[in-house]
Amino acid sequence: MKKFNLVTLPGDGIGSEVVEGALKVLRTACKQHDIELNIQEFPFGGISFDKHGTPATDEAIEACKESDAVLLGAVGGEKWDHLTGADRPESGLLKLRSELEVFANFRPVKVYPELAHASTLKEEVISGVDILIVRELTGGIYFGKPRETNRSVDDPYSFDTMRYHQSEVERVAQKAFEAASTRNQTVCSVDKANVLGSSRFWRDTVIEFSKKYPEITLQHMLVDNCAMQLIRDPKQFDVVLTSNLFGDILSDEAAMLTGSIGMLPSASLGNGPGLYEPVHGSAPDISGQNKANPLATIASAALLCRYSLGLEQVAVEIEQAIQDTLSAGYRTGDIYTGSESETLTGTEEMCNQVLKALGEFNKAETA
Ligand code: IPM
Ligand code: MN
Repeated sequence: MKKFNLVTLPGDGIGSEVVEGALKVLRTACKQHDIELNIQEFPFGGISFDKHGTPATDEAIEACKESDAVLLGAVGGEKWDHLTGADRPESGLLKLRSELEVFANFRPVKVYPELAHASTLKEEVISGVDILIVRELTGGIYFGKPRETNRSVDDPYSFDTMRYHQSEVERVAQKAFEAASTRNQTVCSVDKANVLGSSRFWRDTVIEFSKKYPEITLQHMLVDNCAMQLIRDPKQFDVVLTSNLFGDILSDEAAMLTGSIGMLPSASLGNGPGLYEPVHGSAPDISGQNKANPLATIASAALLCRYSLGLEQVAVEIEQAIQDTLSAGYRTGDIYTGSESETLTGTEEMCNQVLKALGEFNKAETA
């Protein structure tokens, strides 16, 4: 029997609801293949600040580093908005990403045919969209030094630094090119090279690095144009490679192609344990009400199986179960359009439907 050690960090708001559901799915899918999961859970984000005075305890970070993979819900919320610096829930997340050195953030944007009409965009524009955003995650303006806010001078000021080292650009570019070689052999590198020196450096570095992958077609696009093209003609994109800040913004935008940000999973990869989290936030407005869409977290659990545990088959089965649940018409509020074939469900029921689909999948296999 194969065994893996996982850490879960449910975090704040809807985080605990979606992680709980995703874990049930993950455990069931693994059990069907005789795989045992040893799971340790820690408070993280605002809830950890309330309990331990820090959003990320050393104990939690150490456990993550020693694990095979980490599944995280979401962090933050109004309750902790007054906090500054390292006390902020978001700082805990950035610290975790940095400590795990998960420099490449994969955000797959795939439109399920069943949800193509649920998007605010026209069905013919988005149906068939299959993009992989590869966002640099441990550098750039999120981490660059120096940074300062000075409110005690005549004209107060604040600045952050967008800095990229060649090695940082190369290692994330490598992940993007590797991913492209298993897809449509195209990488679109997104920057702001018409204005920013750091973007011109990013572009030059990617061009030089791309020589290692002659079979891959490399394109470049300015980030403002990319924001427009994602809405105008998203099907032109395959792998999008970009920096931390641009990737943050573009991935929220791209999420809406799928109908809801509640559908988007992510995998953050480095050379050690991977970090898996839904792209959505803690959604305090609906937390504790059994309304959250758990599918992004369930899909993140599938990515966890694929990239960190080497369990491709389990990943495929979880993804198929999500697909079957959508085909059967089950919808949380964010993807419900009121059509007759749809059944409005809560978080728990959605998870149960995925579990049911998993069971049926297994029965069909062995029949
Ligand atoms: C994300 C989030 C985070 C980010 C926040 C919560 C720090 O928006 O994962 O996209 O900006 O990276
Ligand atoms: Mn974001």
